[in-house]
Amino acid sequence: MIYSEKVMDHFTNPRNVGEIQDANGVGEVGNPKCGDIMKIYLKVEDNIIKDVKFKTFGCGSAIASSSMATELIKGKTVEEAWELTNKAVAEALDGLPPVKMHCSVLAEQAIHKAINDYRKGEGLELWDYEEKD
Ligand code: FES
Ligand code: FES
Repeated sequence: MIYSEKVMDHFTNPRNVGEIQDANGVGEVGNPKCGDIMKIYLKVEDNIIKDVKFKTFGCGSAIASSSMATELIKGKTVEEAWELTNKAVAEALDGLPPVKMHCSVLAEQAIHKAINDYRKGEGLELWDYEEKD
């Protein structure tokens, strides 16, 4: 089996799937390599990620990464959520096959976009983010 048990678990039973109607940060990204799409909704209150949901039109690794990423940022501060890397998501999943590492980048990028969308809404300066592929 090339996928870890955690990847299979988060793929077959993804956490935090859906939308947040009154989200105050939304980020959507597409993966140029494969055309997969991910959308992340954040509900931020007092600088804490109170709720997060996602919708991913993509492969199993992208879905498992989205699920794990939402679990990792829920309840964290906006600054902590910003620090989440795709590497940390993959590690929390007990690894992804090398050819599937790019799938975890989608979640990282969508979270960064959603956080900047939140900051824009608050009239705050946007944070710099270097996109990786
Ligand atoms: Fe998305 Fe792999 S290209 S399923
Ligand atoms: Fe497209 Fe996984 S193959 S994100």
